[in-house]
Amino acid sequence: MEPEVGRLTGDDIGPGRFPETAAIIENFEQAIGAKKDFLGRKVLVTAGGTREAIDPVRYIGNRSSGRQGAAVASAALNRGAEVTLIMANSQLTEEESRALQGVRVIPVETAIEMHQFLEEEFPKTDVLVMSAAVADARPSQYSEGKIKKGDLQQIELSENPDLLKSIARLRDKQIVVAFAAETSLNIEIAKAKLVAKGANILYLNDVSEGAIFGATETQGIVLTSNGAQIEVPNSSKDSLAELLLDQALIQLG
Ligand code: CTP
Repeated sequence: MEPEVGRLTGDDIGPGRFPETAAIIENFEQAIGAKKDFLGRKVLVTAGGTREAIDPVRYIGNRSSGRQGAAVASAALNRGAEVTLIMANSQLTEEESRALQGVRVIPVETAIEMHQFLEEEFPKTDVLVMSAAVADARPSQYSEGKIKKGDLQQIELSENPDLLKSIARLRDKQIVVAFAAETSLNIEIAKAKLVAKGANILYLNDVSEGAIFGATETQGIVLTSNGAQIEVPNSSKDSLAELLLDQALIQLG
């Protein structure tokens, strides 16, 4: 490996820095051809939380950091996939962003924008991982001017499309992974959601009391359309990413 370029010991800047540990490991795995089981596969990931503008200052949003989707994207990349990430308003660390080098990132703001790119990209993909938290509604009218606080008693909303359900219509043989961020772990509801969304795999997690959103760790249950039910004890979002990709690969056959 070449040394990294950056600030050195004094005021000087140039090649000479020790590469980041993650970059060394990635190079090592690539050099020995470790786990390239997604070679020749295309993986499409959505991540982050959509924002639906009310006026130039305010929006309807959610707490998703984009961390889980970014973890899936970089894991798929490391396993040899060609990866596209439709990312809505992420809050990633520098290291997490660096792990996305080599991923094609499409930044979006709203659910409607995400929908447009999904329609374009979905037919070209083998696996869709829908980890984005999509706002279920948007303000019916965007106000060009900042709304004065006295006029904010009510905001009329319009329903956003269910992106997964609508994209399922374009389905050929793609494997679809959905997420369900709930405030309880109800397996029966999650199974019904798996079917309703037309997904092959669903990750159910309990985000009560500020858990999981924005964190680096997660816990929950993976359900699959072929009947598997896998408990995920407190683990890193990177480990869950690997597990979801393993399950997707099983279903890809
Ligand atoms: N999702 C979507 N389009 C939406 C809302 C959600 O594609 N408008 C996707 C999410 O990306 C996630 C899955 O659907 O993968 C489940 O999201 P969730 O918010 O749990 O489901 P909802 O359909 O919104 O159901 P509810 O809020 O009634 O539980």
